[in-house]
Amino acid sequence: MPVGSACGKIILFGEHAVVYGRPALAVPLSQIRARATVVARAKDGIVIHARDLGRDIVVNDALVEDALAAITRLTLEKHGAAENLDITVESDIPLASGLGSGAAISTAIVRALSTYFEKVLAPAEISALVYETEKMYHGTPSGIDNTVIAYEQAVRFRRGTPLPEITPFQIARPFTLVIANTGIASPTKITVGDVRRGWEQEPARYEKIFDNIAAIVEQAQEALARGENEMLGELMTLNQRELVALGVSSREIENLLEAGLRAGAGGGKLSGGGRGGNVIFYVEEERAEEVRRAVLEAGAAGVILTRVV
Ligand code: MEV
Repeated sequence: MPVGSACGKIILFGEHAVVYGRPALAVPLSQIRARATVVARAKDGIVIHARDLGRDIVVNDALVEDALAAITRLTLEKHGAAENLDITVESDIPLASGLGSGAAISTAIVRALSTYFEKVLAPAEISALVYETEKMYHGTPSGIDNTVIAYEQAVRFRRGTPLPEITPFQIARPFTLVIANTGIASPTKITVGDVRRGWEQEPARYEKIFDNIAAIVEQAQEALARGENEMLGELMTLNQRELVALGVSSREIENLLEAGLRAGAGGGKLSGGGRGGNVIFYVEEERAEEVRRAVLEAGAAGVILTRVV
């Protein structure tokens, strides 16, 4: 049975500022994934069975802004294909939590359909298709989510015209991240929209914050390349301060950050759109378990430990 799968993602440094042309660093989160399967349908039409959303989407009847129907239509157009199909999607990636669930589900559908029609698409082509649906989730997406997920590798991303700059970045020494879920679903479209309104009202203040974030990204990239991982925690905490200034943190995020830092994390920040979703902590391996326990006690809805290599 043709199957497509796609990883989640973590933005290490630079979210929100990346929408305004600053660089950001993101890595794939391969241990949680979205999956899609495609089979021929005995009856007419194309139906997407979205198990996690508890709904079936009839592609021909779906609204234009339905992202799952849209990615299906776009991929079929790309392949010049038309057939009756049942597409089933499921995902381990919590929805609206900053881990790229939307882009991952779309990527899994593109991959499963491409396998079904025996077409091979390059990561850049998959990324471009998924970007079209990211606009439905995000409003004005930078393109970082679809890029890191379609390439499934660490990327430094910078928006550009006509094409973004996508470069791999070096991680000289692997490190451990604790990822803690606030349990609060927070659609990226809303935080991205709020930051845009703030920027329109106070452009100079926001541009300064974006520049500060860009400087942190540069320092982090150098530290990663030199294997100076002990700097990452502090840089995350500095990045978090700028995210607070952008208004995308929340009481729940700060609560988890405080608990993790008290338990010995080297630093931490929200990751993704903010106001909910996930926070990440840089931790020395031997502290990871303690930090995990502390954030669970502080109310985290779930915790993932991952090695970034
Ligand atoms: C979302 O994962 C990251 C944001 O920077 C939005 C974007 O880049 O499209 C908040």
